[in-house]
Amino acid sequence: MSLRLTINGTRHEILSEPDTPLIYVLRDELKLKGTKLGCGLEQCGACAVMIDGKVALSCATPVEVFDGQEITTIEGIADTEIGKRVQQAFIAQTAAQCGYCTSGLVVAATALLSETPFPDDATTSTALTPHLCRCGSHPRVLRAVKEAAAT
Ligand code: FES
Repeated sequence: MSLRLTINGTRHEILSEPDTPLIYVLRDELKLKGTKLGCGLEQCGACAVMIDGKVALSCATPVEVFDGQEITTIEGIADTEIGKRVQQAFIAQTAAQCGYCTSGLVVAATALLSETPFPDDATTSTALTPHLCRCGSHPRVLRAVKEAAAT
């Protein structure tokens, strides 16, 4: 069976086995290394991508589930107006320390602001809670989301 994915606006024919988790297709087959593998158990948020505009984890779900859907990875996030604002706000607020969780957080923040342009603090915290940052940069991440929402 041949799968076709649209990733960051480009159609790809996928050669990996259909039960391969999406992240391995992104990183190993398509060489899109911005999406990070953390726990591999859908518990840390490092592997987040957007599927049809909504945040989704890519580490455990087979690629065949995403057949025909629009996938946006961190490599394509700045192609959207909101994604560009979020990236710039993360930079301005130095909202990354080691950076391992950052791509997942930027993707999640972009999905949040796409759905809720002016989230209150509780809404932002709830949306970003599944994304773990062991460096403790969450206060700066929250400021970055607020800045991105305001610009
Ligand atoms: Fe997917 Fe941790 S790597 S949630």
